[in-house]
Amino acid sequence: MDKIRVELGERSYPIAIGSCILRDIGKNLERFDFSNKVAVVSNPTVFNLYGNTLITSLTDSGFETMEIILPEGEEFKNLSSIERIYEHLLKARLDRKSVLIALGGGVIGDITGFAAATYMRGIDFIQVPTTLLAQVDSSVGGKTGVNHPLGKNMIGAFWQPRLVWIDINTLHTLSRRDFLAGIAEIIKYGIIWDEDFFDFLERRRESILSLNPDDLANIIRRSCEIKADVVSRDEREGGLRAILNFGHTIGHAIETATAYTAFLHGEAIAIGMQAEAILANALGLISSKEVARIRHLLRTYGLPTEIPSEIDTARLFEVMKLDKKAVSGSLKFILPEHIGKVRIQGDIPEGMVRNAVRTAVSGSTDKS
Ligand SMILES: NC(=O)c1ccc[n+]([C@@H]2O[C@H](COP(=O)([O-])OP(=O)(O)OC[C@H]3O[C@@H](n4cnc5c(N)ncnc54)[C@H](O)[C@@H]3O)[C@@H](O)[C@H]2O)c1
Ligand SMILES: [Zn+2]
Repeated sequence: MDKIRVELGERSYPIAIGSCILRDIGKNLERFDFSNKVAVVSNPTVFNLYGNTLITSLTDSGFETMEIILPEGEEFKNLSSIERIYEHLLKARLDRKSVLIALGGGVIGDITGFAAATYMRGIDFIQVPTTLLAQVDSSVGGKTGVNHPLGKNMIGAFWQPRLVWIDINTLHTLSRRDFLAGIAEIIKYGIIWDEDFFDFLERRRESILSLNPDDLANIIRRSCEIKADVVSRDEREGGLRAILNFGHTIGHAIETATAYTAFLHGEAIAIGMQAEAILANALGLISSKEVARIRHLLRTYGLPTEIPSEIDTARLFEVMKLDKKAVSGSLKFILPEHIGKVRIQGDIPEGMVRNAVRTAVSGSTDKS
């Protein structure tokens, strides 16, 4: 088992990564100052697969457990689910020393974290992420929250977990499409922070795609290290943390313009990374050769890199301007200087962005 630490002073916490470690979680909680009441939050799919192992491990270590099973899907990442959790917790008289455990993907993790942040002004919670995206991204860093009818992730809090427990064996039941969407965020870490890691993703592609446990553990560990490093330096996104949004300005616009139905988040981000790399190239940053290398890597992992021609690029542009990352009208982007290093750049001329978006549209001839 590997352990990484997210350094945040007295709120620091470990990330444990290993194969078939879910059954060991109970005895690892004994050293914390939790009371013996634990509420596990999950959805039917994940709970049917892993609930028993988790509950048995907890009860074997003397914890009294309760289960809160929420309906599956992003559409239930809302305040009604939060209320439902509060109701269960209050009825079962969970107190300030009780702990919540999120067993599931990013949806369950974000909901559970926000419930923990607000129940009795904040109680402890643990992330047990079961999707690749949650293991390398959403479970680490303390962004929690739910959607509002007027905007995604608009209600939330920064609230760090006490522990992140990653059992890579859970990835065997994940759909191929969800697995590959998680790979997009992993590729992102290579581009923004670590060229050697990008190389590794190129070299070991076949074995990663066949879920080789050593390679999986490697790429999850390195991704968590990079996220932990960035978050420790800038927990509340005053500056540096924004680099984690590489590919997300255009990616989010694609998700919004397609009403979240055409692409999984990671797929939209893959397209966004390609389009933003094209923009960086047009601004004289990353070389054309490296843009092609990024595109090639995304494609060999089965990820999309082109904006579908059905999407109205003018609408895409409007959505981008409304995006919360567009500060006072000027467009800000995270742009690669080369693979392994990005910069945050504001005041990008609209025409340049429009051109980059057009170039990234499917069927366009100039792909840099
Ligand atoms: N907090 C953050 O920093 C952060 C970062 C990125 C994304 N997010 C959020 O994460 C969410 C997306 O998370 P996601 O991609 O994990 O999606 P998800 O939680 O919806 O999970 C995807 C699907 O996989 C199923 N599933 C989960 N684990 C499984 C397993 N081991 N085997 C079989 N099926 C399994 C789920 O039931 C679901 O149907 C979004 O709401 C997004 O806003 C948050
Ligand atoms: Zn993302």
